[in-house]
Amino acid sequence: QTALSPSINAESCKLEAIRPATIPERFVRDMTERPTLATALQPPDTVPIIDFSRLVKGNKDEYKSEMLQLTRACEEWGFFQVINHGIDLSLLESIEKVARDFFVLPLEEKQKYPMLPGTVQGYGQAFVFSEDQKLDWCNMFALGLEPHFIRVPKLWPAKPLKFSETVEVYSGEVRKLCQHLLEYIAMTLNLRTDFFEEMFGVAVQAIRMNYYPPCARPDLVLGLSPHSDGSALTVLQQGKGGSVGLQILKDNKWMPIQPVPNAFVINIGDTLEVLTNGKYKSVEHRAVTHKEKDRLSIVTFYAPSYEMELGPIPELVDENNPCKYRTYNHGEYSKHYVTSKLQGKKTLEFAK
Ligand code: SIN
Ligand code: FE2
Repeated sequence: QTALSPSINAESCKLEAIRPATIPERFVRDMTERPTLATALQPPDTVPIIDFSRLVKGNKDEYKSEMLQLTRACEEWGFFQVINHGIDLSLLESIEKVARDFFVLPLEEKQKYPMLPGTVQGYGQAFVFSEDQKLDWCNMFALGLEPHFIRVPKLWPAKPLKFSETVEVYSGEVRKLCQHLLEYIAMTLNLRTDFFEEMFGVAVQAIRMNYYPPCARPDLVLGLSPHSDGSALTVLQQGKGGSVGLQILKDNKWMPIQPVPNAFVINIGDTLEVLTNGKYKSVEHRAVTHKEKDRLSIVTFYAPSYEMELGPIPELVDENNPCKYRTYNHGEYSKHYVTSKLQGKKTLEFAK
């Protein structure tokens, strides 16, 4: 399979809702993939909500009930929303502003930072490998952040002016949140608090901004194809005032996730599913579009160092929970992930 860049970009359909007849063929999904199959939808709901401040400084009862909620979220949902996470709301606003300001730049300006075929950094659409593959109704801008050697400085945009500085500060804060969340997650598994921190080494961190333009026929297209994340943890910020676009696969039906103001949506990625031997689930999700409203999401991926050899944690394997995954190199898994198209949980077959 050779990598090809998409011949049509959702850019051409941007900002203005276009007439139904003009939805380019490459965006029109096969019947079975279309987002509005009524039988395949659940009513909008919210995933469990974790009050982070109760974990950090709640009294004993508050802490206990929040930890129970966190365990339930990881076991049964693979998704939760975190409120009172301690990150300044002004920083959430700043990152949203620079992201929006970037996406509204003229196409020529954004294309100075192209996501080249087979890569996942820069502006464009990732995970496209063939001419007959359907495209997502989404423009992406992504950057590798940590460790520093994964950075590609020429892809850091000069405009908007505060872009790089804001990404830097935001990512530092989100990194700390990931580390703390993993400490609590380790405790829900009866592991040492610093278990993941120690195991992950210098964790890999990347940011991806997804811009979903309004679409005249949201019933025909997908904003983002169904997939599970390759990360250990993913932290998602949804832009204010956008449409309800994120859906997770729950009991074999798509459930729209109602955004909670100023919360982060957190999800378990494939890596934690493997490490916990399937106790915690990496849940399939997708994004849909809206007729009038656009939508922005800012996504942070947090994963172990590429050198790590990874497999189910021995403490979580026994006669009742026989080992479900093999041990593999995380760098190889990451490479497999970014060179495969988004297709449900297919990438996790690598670990079987
Ligand atoms: C993602 O899964 O990367 C983003 C989903 C979203 O935009 O909500
Ligand atoms: Fe995702």
